[in-house]
Amino acid sequence: MKKITLPEHSKLLDKSFLFGVATSSFQIEGARDSRLKSIWDTFCETPGKIIDKSNGLVACEHIERWLEDIDLIQSLGVDTYRFSISWPRVMHEDGSLNHEGLGFYIQLLDTLNARGIKPFVTLYHWDLPQFIEDNGGWLNRETAYLFQDYVDKVSLFFGDRVHSYATFNEPFCSAYLGYEIGVHAPGKTGVKSGRQAAHHILLAHGLAMQVLQKNSPSSLNGIVLNFTPCYPADDSESSLKAADYANQYINHWYIKPLLHGEYPAMLAELPDDQKPDIEANDLQIMAQPLDFLGVNFYTRLTYSAPTVTDFSDPEKSPFYTEHAHLHPQTDIGWEIYPQALTDLLTKILSDYNLPPIYITENGAAMADELVDGAVHDNSRIDYYQSHLLAVHEAAEQGVQIDGYFAWSLMDNFEWAEGYLKRFGLVYVDYQTQQRILKDSALAYQAFLLSRTHNDNHVNK
Ligand code: FCB
Repeated sequence: MKKITLPEHSKLLDKSFLFGVATSSFQIEGARDSRLKSIWDTFCETPGKIIDKSNGLVACEHIERWLEDIDLIQSLGVDTYRFSISWPRVMHEDGSLNHEGLGFYIQLLDTLNARGIKPFVTLYHWDLPQFIEDNGGWLNRETAYLFQDYVDKVSLFFGDRVHSYATFNEPFCSAYLGYEIGVHAPGKTGVKSGRQAAHHILLAHGLAMQVLQKNSPSSLNGIVLNFTPCYPADDSESSLKAADYANQYINHWYIKPLLHGEYPAMLAELPDDQKPDIEANDLQIMAQPLDFLGVNFYTRLTYSAPTVTDFSDPEKSPFYTEHAHLHPQTDIGWEIYPQALTDLLTKILSDYNLPPIYITENGAAMADELVDGAVHDNSRIDYYQSHLLAVHEAAEQGVQIDGYFAWSLMDNFEWAEGYLKRFGLVYVDYQTQQRILKDSALAYQAFLLSRTHNDNHVNK
């Protein structure tokens, strides 16, 4: 079996560097309890939205199998586990707490803590309660305040059980995929709508950070952003310009308000009827100090000059043309290009005064085959190996990176792709719910358990 290794002196082998696995509520939990409907339940019911016509009602049955899953997590030798809280599971429609749902997470948190596995909690991984969407969802400014209220109540309830809180997972995906091009729930479209949703999510983040710093000052409080580095398709001036625009629209749109309290300059180039409504002080609220920034990385994209000049089709930008993914690709069609992860981390370090970074997601969908009870996913091991080296390289170049999470612990509901794309270290047989460690899980486990730890850094 292939191995995962890092140079002996690597900062990733310091005691303070945390390795983990990640999941999210809707993708694994299932819904056989009192949880309310979320926008993803509705989206799954909408014909044509999910490739295999599946839904999250059963998923990995994690609600029933959580203890077995914690055993699995522990067996991997990880330091930390990143998972998300399902807002519709822990709150009733009248804004009161749902104690049955909270009880589930308390059990999970207590068991993780008892076993020395640090809980990294994400408060929003896309499953907005449907009743809130019925009032406009992220297009309604009021949702930002409902989010703050949810975070206030839940963080008080969890007390000191949580090692780290991330307010949001990937605002880009919620806003752009969900409200601008409509390929994710709730399936709305329009540039103004996408930009408005992004604005309200970033506002909600700032409001929630204020509450977290009050209710839970000793946890690491921050946010998780996804980055898809944008490269010019060739050396021409016009491709460079297009890649820069894409980078502003896709990546800096989210990090810049958080760290600099302003949107990228290209906001001014959007027609007025596509700009988000922004109220006085919103940007100050967004730019709360962060204890950490979570970076999710999977791939990169290439760009050249735009082919359209009007703003009417949200899928075609008047600023750039986005090219199809180059090869080699994973099973979901995303280019494998680990150098982009080093480039990204060193570039954002030069652009911003960064808080400590955690790589909160990284991994690959591969066409796994279960043969005689084993999955020989060498290509996934290669992906992890090359990307861990890319993180190591960025750390060598001065980026403070404090942790790395593999996406994902186990195969799960991959959004619009349904169950067809497998990202897990652990194979899930959806007929029997049996979990089977793939070779990549065994390689990750062997790597984690072999750490002897450098002592270059003080332990946290
Ligand atoms: C990220 C999501 C995560 C998972 C991976 C493959 O964008 O945060 O839930 O779907 O992609």
